[in-house]
Amino acid sequence: MKIKFLGHSAFMIEGGGIRALIDPFISMNPGSGINVKELKGITHIFVTHGHDDHLGDTVNIAKSNNAKVICNYEIGQYLRGKGLLVHAMHIGGRTSFDFGKVKMTPALHGSGIFDRGSMIYGGNPCGFVIELEGRKVYHAGDTGLTMDMKLLEDEKIDVALLPIGGNFTMDIDDAVKAVDFIKPKMVIPMHYNTMPLIKADPEEFKEKVKNATVRILTVGESISI
Ligand code: NI
Ligand code: MN
Repeated sequence: MKIKFLGHSAFMIEGGGIRALIDPFISMNPGSGINVKELKGITHIFVTHGHDDHLGDTVNIAKSNNAKVICNYEIGQYLRGKGLLVHAMHIGGRTSFDFGKVKMTPALHGSGIFDRGSMIYGGNPCGFVIELEGRKVYHAGDTGLTMDMKLLEDEKIDVALLPIGGNFTMDIDDAVKAVDFIKPKMVIPMHYNTMPLIKADPEEFKEKVKNATVRILTVGESISI
């Protein structure tokens, strides 16, 4: 499986015959430097919640690639209304796709969709455990630290993608505790330094994590696991 960092909480994962995006906040992210039109052959888009910096370019990319969006039921209905192909799931549900299994995990956050000046109900925010080619990646979405993360230890996560920026999500110290709960082999920090409110030093996070490998990815950088 290949994991590529696209800035903020956006990733591309490839393997098992798919090329998927998670939380594609790209064109509105001044730090991404990636042209959405260059993202070709996208088969699936995972959306963790309805906030702008996660829903991001989902509608445009899904339309131009004929990609299927995997998200909660409420965001799914909103996106179906925009003509997108949707596979809706909900918290705690696991299902098998052609490419592997996906479990939708809880996140402690909000999920409203801000559209043309009003807030649309976006259901509960989530994370995903995605299995591709026998490897498991956990994208936490936006979340505070929760005891529920202890349950993820049994999933035997290969790579955990965890927010560290604070203010809206876990900060560095809480993310270190999350690593302790989840016990992934590797962790990649996300959701930091995109704006002043979520300023965090990923090197400090790396120093504080004692029981997993921390990989700090720059935008556009990828790893194979
Ligand atoms: Ni959010
Ligand atoms: Mn966010």
